[in-house]
Amino acid sequence: MANKIATRCDIMLFGALGDLAQRKLFPALYQLERAGLLAHGSRILGLARRELSTDDVRKALRERLKQHVKPEEFDSSVVEAFLQRVEYQILDFNDEAGFGVLNSWRDEENSELIVYLASPPAMYGVIARNLRSASCCTEKTRVVVEKPIGHDLESSRVINDELGEVYRESQLFRIDHYLGKETVQNLIALRFANNLFASQWDQNHISHVEITVAESVGIEGRWGYFDKAGQIRDMIQNHMLQLLCLIAMDPPSDLSADSIRDEKVKVLKALRRITPDMMETYVVRGQYTAGTSTGKPVPGYLEEEGANKRSETETFVALKVEIDNWRWSGVPFYIRTGKRLPEKLSQIIIHFKPAPHYIFDPDQKHLANNKLIIRLQPDEGMSLKILTKDQGLHKGMRLRQGPLELTFSEAFESERIPDAYERLLWEIMKGNQYLFVRRDEVEHAWHWVDRIIQNWSDGGDPPKRYAAGTWGPVASIAMITRDGRSWYEDA
Ligand code: BG6
Repeated sequence: MANKIATRCDIMLFGALGDLAQRKLFPALYQLERAGLLAHGSRILGLARRELSTDDVRKALRERLKQHVKPEEFDSSVVEAFLQRVEYQILDFNDEAGFGVLNSWRDEENSELIVYLASPPAMYGVIARNLRSASCCTEKTRVVVEKPIGHDLESSRVINDELGEVYRESQLFRIDHYLGKETVQNLIALRFANNLFASQWDQNHISHVEITVAESVGIEGRWGYFDKAGQIRDMIQNHMLQLLCLIAMDPPSDLSADSIRDEKVKVLKALRRITPDMMETYVVRGQYTAGTSTGKPVPGYLEEEGANKRSETETFVALKVEIDNWRWSGVPFYIRTGKRLPEKLSQIIIHFKPAPHYIFDPDQKHLANNKLIIRLQPDEGMSLKILTKDQGLHKGMRLRQGPLELTFSEAFESERIPDAYERLLWEIMKGNQYLFVRRDEVEHAWHWVDRIIQNWSDGGDPPKRYAAGTWGPVASIAMITRDGRSWYEDA
């Protein structure tokens, strides 16, 4: 991260004792402290219902930081300095009168206010109204909200309207944590800083694109939330569509938030709607059964703790997505994401078309397509598969496919890769919205996804089973094979 300290901030953290705050936000803030990026005098007020003192919270936080920060990055003196910034206030988020107490903590003259709603989205409206009644916020206050923004277009509009009643769009920072990942931001650099790719990035040169976000974990005790969402709401509506937009969007005229978001919205509007007759060939949904994960036996989705044994919620989705515009006409984007797949792996593969006229040994023609493999996680980096001549006198003009390789941890050895939340929190402190999702993006994404969900509920087949530890239902392989292609690891 560039070494520019943000302005002094007061951060009100609603839901400070919850999983997100404890596992992600506090460790990320600690890392900002360690990097010297928290301005002198910046403070954090944790808010939750539990009756605890500031000392209790600091003590518990010290332990949580030990769990969530790598030992070599845990520096006791930095931890203590960081904990001094943290205070705690008991607050019932429904209690309008209780919000008055926040005013006595706030230092309006000397710092910016950031309100971070790490609470269930159903609470966003009431918290916003109570903050308004208590006159806690000004027009400069920044308000951070987490996904899921609703469970469909209609409910997302309700939440956005409630927030919009109190705050202007320029004050709202809607998080999709994938946008904070270093490698995801690199997509912008890769595409728009390299003319080499800019001139090749369309239907004349690319045959198809694959996006895979695989997780080896299952539901991790989140059955209650996940069963209502499923993989399509949990991952496709947000992270996967954001990745697709960054690959497919036209060059923005500059790096400002609205220029980037305008281009993403154009892609979302151009997504071909998936009608009932397309479901069979464009959509696969799956649910895992018992199997093995990283060598250990694991239960199926319906056997997880707290499971409704008859649930038809999907834990895997594969889609063939068409973008109806000049750049991408005829170039399918195959996207898939699932829980309990063989490994944690997020990658994008750009498959280029073969050269227009082939002059080499015909039995090597299958090697002819260049591929750009962008590894988002783990082993962040990219690899461009190109053809070269096989070395040696006796090899004639035999070809060989090899990689031009860039592994970030090797190339930029001294730079640690920051967690997505570190980047996002830091951008919020600086007031930059370009890594956050605008209201119309959320709504266009819902509009497209709702149609698929509707098709399922109008009588689609139940999810297809796949054993934990495999790459999803065979139907996902059939979906891409039907087009004469294969998922990259099957190639
Ligand atoms: C979250 C989803 O948004 O992203 C989780 O709710 C998922 O279900 C997680 O596990 C994946 O994020 P990451 O950063 O681990 O790839």
